[in-house]
Amino acid sequence: MTSFHAFKHIVQTLLPLYQPGEAASIGVIVLEDAFGIKPRKIGDKTTLTPAQQTRLDAILQRLFKSEPVQYVIGYTIFFRLKIKVNQNVLIPRQETEELVAWVLETAPPRPSPKGREAYRILDVGTGSGCIPVAIKNQRPDLEVHALDISPAALVVARENAVANGMEVHFHEVDILDEKAWAALPMFGLIVSNPPYITEGEKDILPKNVVKFEPHLALFSGGNDAQRFVKKITDFALKHLCPGGWLFFETNEFYAAGTRNILQEKGFVEVELRKDLNGKDRMIRARLD
Ligand SMILES: C[S@@+](CC[C@H](N)C(=O)[O-])C[C@H]1O[C@@H](n2cnc3c(N)ncnc32)[C@H](O)[C@@H]1O
Repeated sequence: MTSFHAFKHIVQTLLPLYQPGEAASIGVIVLEDAFGIKPRKIGDKTTLTPAQQTRLDAILQRLFKSEPVQYVIGYTIFFRLKIKVNQNVLIPRQETEELVAWVLETAPPRPSPKGREAYRILDVGTGSGCIPVAIKNQRPDLEVHALDISPAALVVARENAVANGMEVHFHEVDILDEKAWAALPMFGLIVSNPPYITEGEKDILPKNVVKFEPHLALFSGGNDAQRFVKKITDFALKHLCPGGWLFFETNEFYAAGTRNILQEKGFVEVELRKDLNGKDRMIRARLD
């Protein structure tokens, strides 16, 4: 089988599941990542070895069961960094890259007379560690911390920090448990992409998301979508330095609710931003 036939075979196999453009993108990713065939070489008709064909069959079996291609190949690209993923962590999304870009715009520049705490940043619910690893890569001078309740997610996050050569301080913490907060220091900036999907909304999620991505990362637990936002805001009231910033990733349905919570709890300069698709996606607020 040539690379061109392999590409056509992948697209044909996936057409019942994906739009043609998406199926073609997956074909390009699989050929490049699994077999080292660059997109411009697909038409060159490089021949796949029997071992590569066997591997392609195994990959296609998983893809045909709607498993996301990132889990099948084992990584994704986030802020130009290779980030390992498995089913213990959410697959980092493009919108989260936009959130990181906003955090980087906001983080205090050096040099500045501010104290050390102002340069300490925390990511709550870090999953793969994509947010802290990307921030540290852009701003090595910041002291970057990240927490998650899931030991399995923290294994992946630590691997990503080490593989990318970034120093990140990881904490296994349940952010809903106020007693656990005392173990954490003060921060100049806190960011979170928390779980916010309610049980009642399970049916509107794409089936492959519900089937493959960790429910701990998706669901807020019960029917309060803002459960984590409220708790993390309370945490920020205690663990942000005066003038510090709090960021949330949200979605268009919860953005206004998140803004109200931040305003009610006394945050100022509350600002909502849309993502590249024009949807309310992220929010930032400052502690007075
Ligand atoms: C939506 S995912 C975000 C993952 C990653 N930050 C990203 O943007 O790709 C939410 C994360 O919160 C973690 N989480 C869920 N409940 C938690 C809790 N009570 N305390 C701390 N982390 C929690 C999950 O394990 C998951 O990794």
